[in-house]
Amino acid sequence: MLACDPTLLFHVGVPDHASGAIAATSLATPSARHAQVRGEGPWPEESVEQAVAWEDGVITYVGPADGLAGVEPEWFEGCTIVPGFVDCHTHLPFAGWRADEFEARLSGVSYRDLHGRGAPGSRTEREGANGSPAKEGGIYRSARMLAAASDDEVLAFCRSLVQEMAEHGTTALELKTGYGLSVEAELRQARLARRLSEEAPQTCSVTLLACHAVPEGMKRADWVRVVCGELIPAAARERLVDAVDVYVEDIAFSVDDLAEVARCASDVGLPLRCHADQLGPSGAAEAAVALAARSADHLNHVSATGIAALGGAPATVAVLLPTSTLFLGSSPPDVRALLDAGAAVAIATDFNPGTSPVLSMPEAIAIACSLYGLRPLEALAAATMNASAALDLAPERGTLSPGRPADLVVLDGDAFRLVPYRPGHNPVVRTFVDGERVGGR
Ligand code: NIG
Ligand code: FE
Repeated sequence: MLACDPTLLFHVGVPDHASGAIAATSLATPSARHAQVRGEGPWPEESVEQAVAWEDGVITYVGPADGLAGVEPEWFEGCTIVPGFVDCHTHLPFAGWRADEFEARLSGVSYRDLHGRGAPGSRTEREGANGSPAKEGGIYRSARMLAAASDDEVLAFCRSLVQEMAEHGTTALELKTGYGLSVEAELRQARLARRLSEEAPQTCSVTLLACHAVPEGMKRADWVRVVCGELIPAAARERLVDAVDVYVEDIAFSVDDLAEVARCASDVGLPLRCHADQLGPSGAAEAAVALAARSADHLNHVSATGIAALGGAPATVAVLLPTSTLFLGSSPPDVRALLDAGAAVAIATDFNPGTSPVLSMPEAIAIACSLYGLRPLEALAAATMNASAALDLAPERGTLSPGRPADLVVLDGDAFRLVPYRPGHNPVVRTFVDGERVGGR
C-alpha cells in the first residue's frame, strides 16, 4: 500500500479560490441519487484514479482523472478524496475544559454524580443555599464558565477549535446552546453561536438545546414552561437558531417535556432533535420518531421498539456519538440492529467538555468502526451524507456530485479504510469548503 507522502505529491495545477481540480489514487462518496443512505445501502463505492473539478464553489466534474478535459488537476498520489465530514452534533460554543471531572470519573465518581453534586475530588455531597445539593459540576459548571467569560473570550476560545476541526476535515458542523440555563444566557449563547458561524470557515447550523439541565432553584415543569413561553419564541423572532433539542434523561427532562417542546418548536417552524437513551432507557428514541424529530442522538440504551421506530422513520436520523460512549465507558448501542432495521445512521463527535472532548471526525469514525462494528464505507456515509440529512443542510452536502457544493477532503491513504485503521492519526491533507481551501498540510 502506498503511503501518501506530501513531498511525493505531483503538483500540476494549484486550485485558486473557489475554482479548482484535484485528482487522487482513490475516491469514495455516497451516491447523490439518494438523500440518505439507509440500513440496506447502497454504501459508497471506491474508484481508482478519480478527479473532482469545481467552479465558483460548485462541483462541475466527478469521474475518471483521464476524462477531465482542459484542466490539469492537482494530483495527490496515494491519497483518497471523500466528501467533507459533517459534524452534526457538537456542544460548541463553550468556554473551558473539565479535565478534573474526567480524572474524578476515573476514580469512580459517575457522570450522574458530577451533574448533580460533588466537586471533583470530593465524594461528599455539598449543600446548596436552599438545602438542596449544590450543582457544582457537569453542565452547571460549564454554564458558570460560559457566564464568567466575555463574548470575546468565548469566541477566541472557540475560533481555534473550529479551525482545528477544519484541519481534521470537518466542512460543516452543528453548534448548540445548553450552557446558558436562563432565557438571557441561552439567547446570549445562541448569538455567540451565530457569530462563530459567521467567522468559521465551515457551514454551521445552530441548535437551541433549551432543555439541557434544570436551572438551579427552579422546578423542571416551570423551566419547560419558560422555554416554551419565552425562550423558543424569542430565539425564533431573532432567527438565532435552526432547530431545538431536548436532553431526555432521568437527570434531565422527560418524554412528556419533549412532546411539549416539540409543540412549541413546531409553532414557530423549528425542527426538533433529541438526546435520546444516552445514560438509560427512557423511550426517547421512539418518542422522537413519533414527533417527526430530525434526529435521535446517542441511543446507547435504545429499546427494540426504538430501533424498529428508527428503522421505519423517513425523517429521523439515528445519530451515533461513539467518542462519548468511549469516554463515559457506556455500553454501545446495537448499531447492526439499527442498520438491519433500515435506519439512516450518522456519526458525530458530540464535542463538549464533559462527555466527549474530541473534535476529530476521523477519530469518531475510527471509534465507530472498532466499538460499534461499522464497516469503513458505512462509516463514511454516516459521517457525510447522513449527517448532512440530520442537519437538513440545503443545499445538501456530504456527497461528491456535479451541482453540489465543493466540500471535500483529501486523505493520506489510498483507501478510506486507512481512516478507521489508524486512530490517533490525522489523515487530512486538504480540506475545501465551497471550493476554498480551509485546512490541511
Ligand atoms: O451530549 N448529556 C448531555 N449533554 C452532553 C454532555 C454535556 C456536558 O457534560 O457538558 C452530551 O453528552
Ligand atoms: Fe450531546
